[in-house]
Amino acid sequence: MKGIILAGGRGTRMYPVTKAVTKQLLPVYDKPMIYYPLSVLLLGGIREILIISDKDNVPLFKALLGDGSDIGVSLSYAVQDRPGGIAESFVIGKEFIGDDDVCLILGDNIFYGQDLTAKFEESKRLIEKGECEAVVFGYPVKNPGEFGVVEFDPSGKVLSIEEKPEKPRSDYAVPGLYFYSSSVVEIASGIKPSKRGEKEITAVNEAYLRRGTLRCTRLYRGFAWLDTGTPERLLKAAEFISTVQKTQGFYVACIEEIAWRRGFITKEKLKELGAKLKDTEYGSYLLSMED
Ligand code: G1P
Repeated sequence: MKGIILAGGRGTRMYPVTKAVTKQLLPVYDKPMIYYPLSVLLLGGIREILIISDKDNVPLFKALLGDGSDIGVSLSYAVQDRPGGIAESFVIGKEFIGDDDVCLILGDNIFYGQDLTAKFEESKRLIEKGECEAVVFGYPVKNPGEFGVVEFDPSGKVLSIEEKPEKPRSDYAVPGLYFYSSSVVEIASGIKPSKRGEKEITAVNEAYLRRGTLRCTRLYRGFAWLDTGTPERLLKAAEFISTVQKTQGFYVACIEEIAWRRGFITKEKLKELGAKLKDTEYGSYLLSMED
């Protein structure tokens, strides 16, 4: 399975901060926002990743992450000319996806929880075994109308999925983490732009619902899905990460640590990366790492 991180959008709700730089490069406490979705893919064992952003920001992501070889993965980049919607990722990423299954994560979504990797691997398995063609998550929120909303029965069978409905049929929002078979390229190509001029990811999921091949996995209490869409929410997300890190002493979304623990890089490489950052707490953390 391959991975795509969509790090586009105008970020107008964050102006003037995002006037010159995309939101996904802003810090969430002590690291750039994109580290968080990238770490989710790494934890899920995904090593071939396409990062999509606009033409001004792609060079900045390249400067930050390079070709991925430092953390033992392959990173490539593609440009989305205008905010054409989340589902456009699969059209832009057609060559990259080829005949593979694909996981898409939004560059501004932060996930944190003990069973994240297990849920990720279970979703990957469902797609790889052909048990379904699309897997989304459902996460209970107080403001479902601001998101994609999924309604499902106790077995996880999806009954409906709607984009920002006025009258939500459930309290379950669909977070920005999606798993698909390679058929998603064809499905996404056929999606017509919505009223806001975007190829909606919810329209892709509706297409799979009609085919009877969409599954929804519930995320429970004890799991954090953090939105970073406004200055206030970004601040809360940073406070959350800082609190977790200072309490436990473990870093959240430390891509070098994950790469080492997953066996993508050697301990020597990890220490080399730590030495380059030795004047920071981040670097000291990497240098302190023991088996
Ligand atoms: C997008 C999707 C929505 C999803 C949300 C998750 O919303 O359209 O279905 O629930 O991401 O972050 P947008 O950010 O475009 O408002």
